[in-house]
Amino acid sequence: MALTILAGGFVAGTRAGLTYNSFPLMDGRLVPAGYAQLRPFVLNWFENIAAVQFDHRLLAVATAVVIMLVWAAGRRAVLPRPARVAVHGLVAIALLQVALGVTTLVFVVPLPLAATHQAGAVLLLTAAIVFRHTLRRVAPMDGKA
Ligand code: HEM
Repeated sequence: MALTILAGGFVAGTRAGLTYNSFPLMDGRLVPAGYAQLRPFVLNWFENIAAVQFDHRLLAVATAVVIMLVWAAGRRAVLPRPARVAVHGLVAIALLQVALGVTTLVFVVPLPLAATHQAGAVLLLTAAIVFRHTLRRVAPMDGKA
């Protein structure tokens, strides 16, 4: 998720959201032509608009898939009520964030949508931290601490 947020910063910073305004294809292709046009290759991850936007999409979808797997595992596990509530919240915010990202892109980055998408990233990170917090072990009260 941290990488997805970082990649989002590169999309905003290079104004990559102003091009390839379709989803899931970019100019009719899953992986855009010219993904690796810069040399050395690593430069593409920071300065090539096509690659910067593709990386953010890929990382975002991977983040959402991982969260859905955690959610599915959580449904089968015996979790305390706060953790169950938190994992439902996490998956809902993740799906909302992906939908917001796609909408921001398709409408060519209107400021209110872009700002909501940015705030959504903070909310998603917060939801993940809250979920992790609900899973913490409580130290036994044996009087030794
Ligand atoms: C887990 C899902 C996602 C997270 C956590 C996330 C996070 C972010 C973050 C932190 C930014 C930078 C905002 C800024 O600095 O102004 C950003 C920008 C952006 N994201 Fe996402 N994003 C996600 C999914 C997506 C998806 C699926 C798309 C579209 C396919 C998308 C499209 C964009 C665009 C176009 C921008 C640039 C907005 C601008 O220029 O202000 N995002 N994203």
